[in-house]
Amino acid sequence: MTYTPEVRERLEQDAKEIIGRYPKPRSALLPLLHLVQSEDGYVSDAGQEFCAEMLGLSKAEVVGVSTFYTMYKRRPMGDYHVGVCINTLCAVMGGDQIWDELSEHAGVGHDETTPDGKVSLERLECNAACDFAPVMMVNWEFFDNQTPASAKQLVDDLRDGKEISPTRGPKKLCTFKEASRVLSGLPDGLAADGPSASGPSLEGLKIAKANGWKAPEAP
Ligand code: FES
Repeated sequence: MTYTPEVRERLEQDAKEIIGRYPKPRSALLPLLHLVQSEDGYVSDAGQEFCAEMLGLSKAEVVGVSTFYTMYKRRPMGDYHVGVCINTLCAVMGGDQIWDELSEHAGVGHDETTPDGKVSLERLECNAACDFAPVMMVNWEFFDNQTPASAKQLVDDLRDGKEISPTRGPKKLCTFKEASRVLSGLPDGLAADGPSASGPSLEGLKIAKANGWKAPEAP
């Protein structure tokens, strides 16, 4: 697969904007991998060649990075990348059960996509949202305090094309390709939308304030 001249021109324009933010072009490799993922739904061969060319790197250098990080996908993702946190706290709070039931319900396993191309499932490590365990993520937006039933309903609704709002973040859930574009550093203007820190995340702060506790001064 190679990019058509129109796609190539558009990608080049975006890539140049991103590369211009860094003192050395090679520093832009991670965002450029997200950029090509936003075009193809995964890091394709053509995408890796494009990154190498734009950054003056060898293809081996690009592949060495793209195959190291799990956020770069080697197969096309569905419209919705659904991650179930199975790390320690989420697991004991029900994450393992959610994974087992959801995977059976959707009929796909880890890193697999439903036949309609809508949903890809992944077992995720800690999402730094343990205070809302068990947590799921759809295209990297949080779905807090999940149960096996709510997880199955969520995936059914995504496959049915229903409008879904994450627990936190923008009201409207974007697609995997759209999320990848934002991760490349090209904002969609929704970063400040919707609720962010709340509830359990702020308990420690409330207790500290009530007791007059302060962080130690920096030396
Ligand atoms: S263990 Fe699931 S978010 Fe931390």
